[in-house]
Amino acid sequence: MLDFLGDLKRTHMCGELRASDAGSKVVLMGWVNRRRDLGNIIFLDLRDRSGITQVVVTADAGAEVHDKANAVRSEFVLAVIGHVKLRDAGTINKNISTGEVEVVADELRLLNDCKTLPFSPSDSVLANEEVRLKYRYIDLRRPDLQRNIQLRHKVSIAIREHLNAQGFYEIETPFMTRSTPEGARDYLVPSRVYPGEFYALPQSPQLFKQILMISGFDKYFQIVRCFRDEDLRADRQPEFTQIDLEISFARPEMVFHTVEGFLKAAFSTIGVDLQTPFPQMSYDQAIRLYGIDKPDLRLPCMADVRHAFTSENLEALHIDAELPVVAIVIPKVGEPTRKERDEIKTMFGERKDAKVFEDIKRLEKSFPEAAAKVREIAKPNAEDLLVVVAGAKRTEPATASKARQQAHAVHSAAGQLRLALGQKYAERHGAFKQGNFRLLWVTDFPMFEWDEAEGRWNAAHHPFTSPHDEDMDKLESDPGAVRSLAYDVVLNGTELGSGSIRIHRQDIQSKIFKAMGMSPEEQQARFGFFLEALQYGTPPHGGIALGLDRIVMILAGADSLREVIPFPKTAKAVDLMVDAPTPVSERQLKELGIAVVEKKDV
Ligand code: AMO
Repeated sequence: MLDFLGDLKRTHMCGELRASDAGSKVVLMGWVNRRRDLGNIIFLDLRDRSGITQVVVTADAGAEVHDKANAVRSEFVLAVIGHVKLRDAGTINKNISTGEVEVVADELRLLNDCKTLPFSPSDSVLANEEVRLKYRYIDLRRPDLQRNIQLRHKVSIAIREHLNAQGFYEIETPFMTRSTPEGARDYLVPSRVYPGEFYALPQSPQLFKQILMISGFDKYFQIVRCFRDEDLRADRQPEFTQIDLEISFARPEMVFHTVEGFLKAAFSTIGVDLQTPFPQMSYDQAIRLYGIDKPDLRLPCMADVRHAFTSENLEALHIDAELPVVAIVIPKVGEPTRKERDEIKTMFGERKDAKVFEDIKRLEKSFPEAAAKVREIAKPNAEDLLVVVAGAKRTEPATASKARQQAHAVHSAAGQLRLALGQKYAERHGAFKQGNFRLLWVTDFPMFEWDEAEGRWNAAHHPFTSPHDEDMDKLESDPGAVRSLAYDVVLNGTELGSGSIRIHRQDIQSKIFKAMGMSPEEQQARFGFFLEALQYGTPPHGGIALGLDRIVMILAGADSLREVIPFPKTAKAVDLMVDAPTPVSERQLKELGIAVVEKKDV
């Protein structure tokens, strides 16, 4: 028989009681985390979001209370009316905040029962992820997830308060809108009123925030949901949250300063004092030193050791003298085993453009002077691992742009190896200290990327990013060499956010669309409203968006976004709890003017 709550009010949360409360009469409400029955005495661990209190039901409470305590099972919902008692010294539990006391029950109200659970939130071993996501409401009761969701709340509030104090307005932008290109597919929403026509859910509020600058709002931010139909990974979800902002009359430093300020506020929620300003590095430097545009600064950078080799050495080793030769040093991990060397070789075996010298001792035997110089430049300590990566001898001469691509490929191969070796050894030696947060800005990204499949240039960030003033004249002659005013903020090898100074002139915006192979008609059809808006007094402006989920994931020390999003989707973009997506009724489809064709016919 269940009881009613009536007008009973709770006096404390389950994690609040301390030794100083001894003797007080209290009312607690929560879930039964665990029940231990010692016959005439029953212990109930009562849990709410703040923690756990041990409730004791003794024979003194009377038969009715005792019978109720007997009937209770895990995750039943209870109100406990009782008094606080100090625990005996020998039974103090240092693992919980209320461990010095217990509540002796005078009355119990059974507010709800609970079916046999698919898994218990108090289990130390996790259930399989599909079951956890199907029963997300139970999974969310686990202390880890409770902590992560609480952290997410604290981080959002800290960021919001910081930006408010800096004079930003929080302004909402529509979810039912037109496509904004951010490199993924759109989620579409069919219109009933205009059959065959669709809204797109925003991949980001990019164009709206730029329009807000045209409208004179000066500083905008929004903690906003974005939607992208893309291949999912541990750090990607189809709907995710951005901290999105835009500033009028902005220089990159103003955006950097704003982001550094709110990240400092966010990190302070876990007691970390971030050092600001963050270091800055150009994209070219990042590629040369780390072989990647999101460098993990916790490992040393690569060293250019091309000059350690004479041209005879290079010839004999089949290394191209015009391409990079770099050394990778991984600290304190010693020589690779034979098996690890084979793994490295296999990794490079399929590449025609880059070569790896994974056994520095062998290089030392045949080319002692070159190897000595490599050591002199790369400066490995005795117990460090040293590997050299070089560009393979080219068979035909290359154009300037091809040569750039080839050099990039060698750096990037070396960068991947550096990360793979770093990861492996970090796992083995715990080289990545917890709480070692290394942030940086990467700036001056290339404006365009060559899209091999489409045979045209694509915007590397998005097409609203401004090219560097000095590179404007290369827009037509050498698009691959045009640098942009785009920047990323990177933490330990993860891109936290991306932004840019925008194009604020219609003529330049049109030029960029043209460089991307967009005809004037296509420009009008896709972005006519925006090209028009730019002509009505657009101030120079710039901004950025950071992934809130990624920030919270890192702060929580979690390894998947699913651990910090209350209701996430699976890697196949399915919500297992509500079972979405689902087919809809014939009537709904008819109303929308939509006919569904079998997948096999598509
Ligand atoms: P961008 O597309 O780089 O830039 O996105 C900015 C940041 O959003 C996060 N993010 C994601 N997080 C989880 N799941 C995803 N699928 C996902 N996709 C992106 C990342 C990323 O760094 N409008 C521009 C910003 C600007 O120019 O102001 C934009 O959206 O942390």
